[in-house]
Amino acid sequence: MAGSLLDGRTALITGAASGIGAATALVLARHGAKVVIADINEEGGRRTVAAVEKAGGEADFVWADVRQADAVRDMVAFTVRRFGRLDCAVNNAGVDTAGDGRFHEVSEESWDASFEVNLKGVWWCMKYELAQMLEQGSGAIVNVASVAGLVGIEAPLVSPYIAAKHGVVGLTKAAALEYATSGIRVNAVCPGAVRTEMVDGLIAQGIMTLEQTAAYHPLGRYANPSEIGEAIAWLCSDAASFVTGLPMAVDGAMTAR
Ligand code: NAI
Repeated sequence: MAGSLLDGRTALITGAASGIGAATALVLARHGAKVVIADINEEGGRRTVAAVEKAGGEADFVWADVRQADAVRDMVAFTVRRFGRLDCAVNNAGVDTAGDGRFHEVSEESWDASFEVNLKGVWWCMKYELAQMLEQGSGAIVNVASVAGLVGIEAPLVSPYIAAKHGVVGLTKAAALEYATSGIRVNAVCPGAVRTEMVDGLIAQGIMTLEQTAAYHPLGRYANPSEIGEAIAWLCSDAASFVTGLPMAVDGAMTAR
């Protein structure tokens, strides 16, 4: 595949069966990386592999639930076995937990569901990825947080999501500092609304409308998933060699207000 930003690199992307993860897999492959697609959705994951291969890239799938330590450890081991090393890790798997009511109505189940995937899942992934990168003496991690990791959002229903995504930004900063002298960079992207199945689901539930959410962004529209993928590719690459500990808004100026 043409491209040089990530030539010869191996990238692991969680939650890459659909949405931002699937688009990111294609973008990273277009920039020259070999990609490992990890997800609980095997059918979707294999679809992403086929799409990367169709575009001329190299990819493989590994089943992994980011809530399970053993599965995450095996996912990292699979990547190293398959492609020799782990250069870029994109911790993207996430769930929305909207639909549970306003702050005072949110259930413990909803809180736990959000935190297990959106925060503890990222922590498990980082733990095993960092161990591998430490062994190699290099690596770049990009966590997919959200604008909800930077600011509150005036929508009801999402307080556990906002809290978990702020936690992802915290994990990003903590690890960036701890591994700054170990050749490992750790950053986060904080997307505004991106047209994916997750957002389509929120629209279907009547929690948001396309028009309302587009109006949140001064650019006046949603992001395409590949626009988040391009930011991730840059953060993964040597072009961002002095960038670490950054929660990067990719939000059409939503948080610039
Ligand atoms: P999506 O629902 O299209 O994709 C999420 C993927 O994660 C799915 O393939 C799903 O199977 C996988 N997944 C869910 N639980 C998992 C688990 N326990 N282990 C492994 N994989 C699991 O959603 P989308 O929109 O692509 O979201 C990706 C990330 O981007 C999430 O972290 C989300 O919070 C974040 N995000 C999304 C925004 C949006 O507007 N779509 C905005 C800001 C952040």
